[in-house]
Amino acid sequence: MKVSIAADHAGFEEKQLLVEYLRDQGHEVLDRGPVNDDRVDYPDFAALVATDVASGEAERGVLVCGTGIGMAIAANKVDGIRAANVTTPEFAQLSREHNDANVVTVSGRFVTDEVNRAIVKAFLETDFGGGRHAGRVEKIMALE
Ligand code: RB5
Repeated sequence: MKVSIAADHAGFEEKQLLVEYLRDQGHEVLDRGPVNDDRVDYPDFAALVATDVASGEAERGVLVCGTGIGMAIAANKVDGIRAANVTTPEFAQLSREHNDANVVTVSGRFVTDEVNRAIVKAFLETDFGGGRHAGRVEKIMALE
């Protein structure tokens, strides 16, 4: 799968680990930066990944900041994006099954790399459930 990924300074180290993990798993990765842990503003990087996903350049997006919260708030401002801030693999799975999330945001400061890898794996491998969830997602998108 083609995956766009970015971080801010607080998520940089974890982003590097997730890029390596995703490539090891055979995914095509668009690494939108940053290239070091110099202080940056997370909305700038959320916009890059959100635009990749909304335009179809990437199928899914992964964003890492200190908590994942700011990245989710910013990414959700872009039309077509359903970004979920996730701290467990179970929530990653449910964000796909119930919400058809197309961007996952994770924490580089409060969640381990092992758990984040499991989150990303569940996020990329779980299909949208459709059915009763489809109309609800349509209602979310109608709010744009
Ligand atoms: C940066 O200090 C921090 O605010 C950012 O990484 C993120 O956690 C925001 O939601």
